[in-house]
Amino acid sequence: MSKEEKKVNRRDFLFTASYTVGAVGVGAVIWPMIDQMNPDKAQQALATTEVDISNIEPGKSITVLWRGKPVFLKRRTSEEIAEARAVKLDDLPDPQKDEDRVKEGKDEWLVMLGVCTHLGCVPLKDKGDFNGWFCPCHGSHYDVSGRIRKGPAPTNMEIPKFEFVDSNTIKIG
Ligand code: FES
Repeated sequence: MSKEEKKVNRRDFLFTASYTVGAVGVGAVIWPMIDQMNPDKAQQALATTEVDISNIEPGKSITVLWRGKPVFLKRRTSEEIAEARAVKLDDLPDPQKDEDRVKEGKDEWLVMLGVCTHLGCVPLKDKGDFNGWFCPCHGSHYDVSGRIRKGPAPTNMEIPKFEFVDSNTIKIG
């Protein structure tokens, strides 16, 4: 093989390699980047996030960033909780009780990753056919518990690990 041919092959390989990484998706690309950060930066990137929830009125929600992803925090009204609990599990593509998506005794607080489980778009709040969220990318409708009700998303929006530090603070992660 001539020198020129070798060069071409190497270029082809580099192209194929970077193309493959691109196709694997965001999750696979983020981790190597964190790996290369210095330990303090890596620690920060993986850190937990504390959120002050004292100013969120019933029926309202906020979005915070945690580990580079949006997290929705919604303070649900008693009507919204009742609506979520009145749904029959048989009517859900990914059957899950509303009670299992919140902390016991803190039923008004829904905390979930604001990422559509179809292909990862960020759904819009207070939209869609089920009084919850709507993902405009391909038309997935989520209810007030963040459960998928209609459209291509296969599962409910994910609940991250979180806890109440006190009555006004939630720690995510
Ligand atoms: S990414 Fe949300 S419906 Fe496709």
